[in-house]
Amino acid sequence: MLTAEQHINNYANSMFRFERLNDAWIDSCAAYLQYVFGDRLLGKTVVDYAFGRGNWSLAFLKAGASKVIAIDAATDNVARFSRYCRQNGIADIEVIEGNVLSAPINADADIVWLYGILHHVEPAALFLKHITALAPRDDALFYVYAYNRDSLREFVVNACRRVCQYDNEQDFRTDAPYLTRAARLRGRDDLTAPHIDWYRSSDLAELLASNGLYATVRHDGFEKFNNSFCCDEFQPHQWLCQRGEAGKISVLDAKRRYEDDVNVLKSMWQSIVTAGIAEPDLQKIGLGLFNAHFAALENTATSEGAVIEDFQFLLYVLISHDVELDNQSPASRYTTLALASLNGNPTDQIAAASDDTLVAHHLRTNRIRL
Ligand SMILES: C[S@@+](CC[C@H](N)C(=O)[O-])C[C@H]1O[C@@H](n2cnc3c(N)ncnc32)[C@H](O)[C@@H]1O
Repeated sequence: MLTAEQHINNYANSMFRFERLNDAWIDSCAAYLQYVFGDRLLGKTVVDYAFGRGNWSLAFLKAGASKVIAIDAATDNVARFSRYCRQNGIADIEVIEGNVLSAPINADADIVWLYGILHHVEPAALFLKHITALAPRDDALFYVYAYNRDSLREFVVNACRRVCQYDNEQDFRTDAPYLTRAARLRGRDDLTAPHIDWYRSSDLAELLASNGLYATVRHDGFEKFNNSFCCDEFQPHQWLCQRGEAGKISVLDAKRRYEDDVNVLKSMWQSIVTAGIAEPDLQKIGLGLFNAHFAALENTATSEGAVIEDFQFLLYVLISHDVELDNQSPASRYTTLALASLNGNPTDQIAAASDDTLVAHHLRTNRIRL
């Protein structure tokens, strides 16, 4: 049984063992920080909490901060980044191994950068209480990033974690060769993280307010800022926050996209995981869904493309494993529609045929192949 810190270290190594820092990447991170903070960074002390590889710490110095306190709970992240700073003569980054949930950390920063971490900690309210103590002054800034609930990504990640979640790096490395590169780059994080929460805007606002923090600006994500791959399959919250309600913006819950399609996918997945399929086979099916999803996202750069591909993958599993379906379930109605489409039969007698979903539309207008 791993301790919490060993688990985090395995997670960090699964993600970052083969990652290397490079100048072009740091430059693009620094440009993003200038977009987020502008001149408010100049001469400031920044805590980069859960620094990972250290790219944001380096970018903060490049963008004008005078000092960075880089904190991470993973021993090996700390060793790798300390070595990098030493070898490159970087003196203005203090690298600390720590976890505010295990032991207090003293700091007196102007800005706390919480990138890619809030959804991985529990209890989040206690975590934020300790985090806010790292920058005690009234005008301190807190940059908060958190995964968005009700996204298509949430379905895929939760589904796959149910059958293939990795606690240790070696197990992940054994299976990682079965994943496409796009799926592996996500799986090294999504399938190895000890914990994941998904937040609606209202949940996140409430959590922050319980620690006296309020969103003042929402930002485009790093990918969109860089004009690289971006679609609405996953749009994490990225908010610049301050203490006190002055300047507070209203943060509305996003409309759930493809809600009916996601419900069909969920129903199919539920039928698969409760069909009595042996655990090792279920694990492979989980990896297959991850591949199908992220390959489709990469190829089509649209959520629609991923929904259709996920559906066809799950349909194949249901048929190839002879999974018995409850007649009333969306999984059953859509399998019937898909078989009709597959066989080129008229579909107007089939309940799901008139549904206004991406999948029903696709099945009405395309011949599918499994
Ligand atoms: C998804 S990575 C994000 C890394 C970096 N912030 C980035 O955006 O690239 C999550 C990081 O959080 C660290 N971590 C996880 N739980 C932590 C905790 N409770 N305290 C400090 N670091 C933690 C992991 O070691 C890992 O480096």
